[in-house]
Amino acid sequence: MPRPSFACVHCGHSAPKRLGRCPACGEWNCFEPDAAPPSDPAGWGVARERARPLAEVPQSAEERFSSGSLELDRVLGGGFVRGSAVLVGGDPGVGKSTLLLQAANRVAEAGGTVLYLTGEESAAQVAMRGRRVGARSPRLLVATGTSLPGFAAEVAAHGPDLVVVDSIQTVAVPEVPSIPGSLAQVRECAARLTAAAKTGRHALALIGHVTKEGSVAGPRTLEHLVDAVLYLEGDRVQDYRLLRGVKNRFGSTGEVGIFEMTAGGLADVGNPSRYFLSRTANALPGVAVTPALVGTRTILVDVQALTARSGFGTPARRATGVDATRLAVLLAVLEKRAGLHVSGEDVFVATAGGVRLEEPSADLAVALAVASAFLDRPFPRDTAVAGEIGLGGEIRPCGPMEGRVEEAARLGFRRILVPAPGPRAGSGIEVVPVATVDEALERLEPRRTE
Ligand SMILES: Nc1ncnc2c1ncn2[C@@H]1O[C@H](COP(=O)(O)OP(=O)(O)OP(=O)(O)O)[C@@H](O)[C@H]1O
Ligand SMILES: [Mg+2]
Repeated sequence: MPRPSFACVHCGHSAPKRLGRCPACGEWNCFEPDAAPPSDPAGWGVARERARPLAEVPQSAEERFSSGSLELDRVLGGGFVRGSAVLVGGDPGVGKSTLLLQAANRVAEAGGTVLYLTGEESAAQVAMRGRRVGARSPRLLVATGTSLPGFAAEVAAHGPDLVVVDSIQTVAVPEVPSIPGSLAQVRECAARLTAAAKTGRHALALIGHVTKEGSVAGPRTLEHLVDAVLYLEGDRVQDYRLLRGVKNRFGSTGEVGIFEMTAGGLADVGNPSRYFLSRTANALPGVAVTPALVGTRTILVDVQALTARSGFGTPARRATGVDATRLAVLLAVLEKRAGLHVSGEDVFVATAGGVRLEEPSADLAVALAVASAFLDRPFPRDTAVAGEIGLGGEIRPCGPMEGRVEEAARLGFRRILVPAPGPRAGSGIEVVPVATVDEALERLEPRRTE
């Protein structure tokens, strides 16, 4: 079989010739020559060390150092690891450079030497961002350019503790004929950079762009080369950002870091429940609160709804943070099982901060927010709710409730509605099992105008 010499820049699918359309991912005109042989970072073919019993191999103490951000450290599994590579992906403009420039500065302020290598922006642009986030450490060094060998010389000269490459799609080695960002270049550069991190004992952070399909642009193979893959997510209109770990050889992958984009950069959101709650002194119609699982963390989130008599034609339904199809189902359940005639209403539902609620346990909060708005009867502000709603209007169990009950109690809620039978009462909070939507609706307060 001939050696594949072309590869899709999106998914890495190899082919012996340039194909018009990639059979693997369906993209058009995406094949690039992939002729360059990969470098030999592992010294393959040269016996460097004989095999020996695993039990006799001395353990190297995993050398970690803090990124200076509790949220980033949490997702990294306790901080950057020397000799390892982490890939930070995310949509354009989401804040990848900001996150890593801040981390770079904090590492430098803590006494480390940091090299920030950028092929994306000029040094002046990085300096401008640096001023914005208050990066002033003299040990934070910036180099601009796109030549990887040029950067390698800087790394050798300074012996840094942390190297940030912004972004992996802009650097290139001259031996590979294709352009920066192509599969061959990205793979080669990443392989050389990770090998250099292993020998140089520094931690390496690579920034990578994400394609519209959601994978780090260029090669999917990049994810295999690095030790950890983190994705920074968030709506550019909303201020909060979630950093999710999707792969981590040195820590758990369920972790989520929560940040707020401010004028001074990304700030840790230390108490996310408070951030996603818009608690007012008085209960307002159209609001219900649910403890939602974001990564491994339970966070209390406000669900807000507004209903208004539709003018004409098909009523409008808009959902932010809640799945639109799920909303349609819940509206049908309210109409049929609870007798609320919402079918002729425009319905708007949004979560505070636009945080995405992906679990079925958010159903009850959505239904109660809509019902509360429609009936103009507030839902008690001291009560949180969690439960999946079945098509018969029954409240179904949806996973363990203990963490949710605890978080609601911690935030000062006095009561929580949960699917029957529900956990035993949490400390300092009344746990009320409910079997149907009707039962939950009975908790709505009277109209304030009455
Ligand atoms: N003064 C400011 N106040 C608040 N937010 C700001 C301010 N300046 C920039 N931002 C935010 O920072 C974002 C840009 O951050 P950054 O350049 O780190 O993103 P990026 O992911 O590196 O983008 P790219 O993909 O273009 O490299 C903007 O989209 C905006 O949300
Ligand atoms: Mg950037």
